[in-house]
Amino acid sequence: MAKFIIEKTGPLVGEVSISGAKNAVLPILAATILTDEPCEINDVPLLSDVDVMCRILRCVGAKVDVDEKEHTIVVDAKGINSSEIPYDLVKMMRASIFTMGPLIARTGHANMALPGGCSIGSRPIDLHNKGLRMLGAKITVDEFSVDAYAPKLKGSLVYLDFPSVGATENIMMAASLAEGYTTIENAAEEPEIVDLANFLNKMGAKIKGAGTDSIRIEGVKKLHGTRHAVIPDRIETGTFMVAAAISRGDVLIKNALPDHVRPVIAKLLECGATVNDEVDGLRVRGDINRLVATDIKTLPYPGFPTDMQAPFMSLLTTVRGTSTIIETIFENRLQLAGELSRMGANIRVDGNMAIVPGDKRPLHGANVMATDLRAGAALVLAGLVAEGHTEVSDIYHIERGYENFADKLNSLGANVKRVE
Ligand code: EPZ
Repeated sequence: MAKFIIEKTGPLVGEVSISGAKNAVLPILAATILTDEPCEINDVPLLSDVDVMCRILRCVGAKVDVDEKEHTIVVDAKGINSSEIPYDLVKMMRASIFTMGPLIARTGHANMALPGGCSIGSRPIDLHNKGLRMLGAKITVDEFSVDAYAPKLKGSLVYLDFPSVGATENIMMAASLAEGYTTIENAAEEPEIVDLANFLNKMGAKIKGAGTDSIRIEGVKKLHGTRHAVIPDRIETGTFMVAAAISRGDVLIKNALPDHVRPVIAKLLECGATVNDEVDGLRVRGDINRLVATDIKTLPYPGFPTDMQAPFMSLLTTVRGTSTIIETIFENRLQLAGELSRMGANIRVDGNMAIVPGDKRPLHGANVMATDLRAGAALVLAGLVAEGHTEVSDIYHIERGYENFADKLNSLGANVKRVE
């Protein structure tokens, strides 16, 4: 299994470009199932999760051409000839569930292994099933798989008990080809939802309100092919903003969209970092003021993103004063605390709260393990400033969601080596 070896380095300095958003490109690739015409997706990040989604599309009969040099994928789903997603693909990526809505809408049927949980939580799909049932799908779930059958989908009012990102996306995709109107109340508002809605509307869908908690969809008979460039990844943006702060460096994050990272900007400013919106990106400096504690509470967008909680936990172990972190989205997403404590951080976890003592105890290198992609990235950031060297294992988690993570950090002056 590959691992990263990180030497303590000085401040990161320079500029870095952000790749396309993983959590936008995955539902957008699933949405190409909705049409029998080719779709071209640009600014695609080269990630293992994207590879798995391409394998899933091929498995149901779509033609998928990937041009890695151009970061472009062309999907031609004319030849869809199956609606079954095998377990070995679903177990590699929970986001396979995003193909359920499009498969039902296009073929009237979908069958896939249950995505199952992961280290951050049980990851149920009850809200996906509730929404698709409201549109007329007959869904049966046994202990291993979910089977959905819908000869015809009819628009409906769907209230989401929790603003689930995936459920909002699945329902929006299915409703695009349902008969009549669908309204999703208490919908998720993430920028990736807006990017998916923009893609669907370019295919001929009629979606209004994406980015708010109420999305209206007027079903259409057919969707056509289109071309779309994916938005930059706001979580990769936030990760490099934190890398600049934790290393007390000065980094220009190019093609970052400030509006997508407002809570991250606010919390970095509270810690004493500076963030300037410059012509070609966001400049983050951690070398001007002494950095101090702040408190974090994760919430659905536009609140502080749960995917940025782990990188901030690493940062907060290096600042003056004690911080608190409350995780409200996933039931088990504070595991990074244990790994950082092995590096000397001495973080106390009580339920969904972590108490993070500041820099009274500087971090020292250790052998640690990535438990999910964001905690893995956070351990690399901690390794940049820990005395000695740090080994992060199970880095396949990181490579699911960060394109060329080590190369990008090293281009800023870090010393991160990938070894098998
Ligand atoms: C998406 O996951 C992202 N993944 C996650 O990013 C992100 O952390 C999450 O949204 C929250 O922002 C992708 O977009 C591929 P949810 P998703 O449905 O859709 C509960 C990363 O690091 N829930 O909004 O699975 C669920 O248990 C990944 O890039 C139900 O109860 O998130 C969780 O507690 C990690 N029933 C909460 O909602 C359901 O049917 C948020 O889940 C669905 C969800």
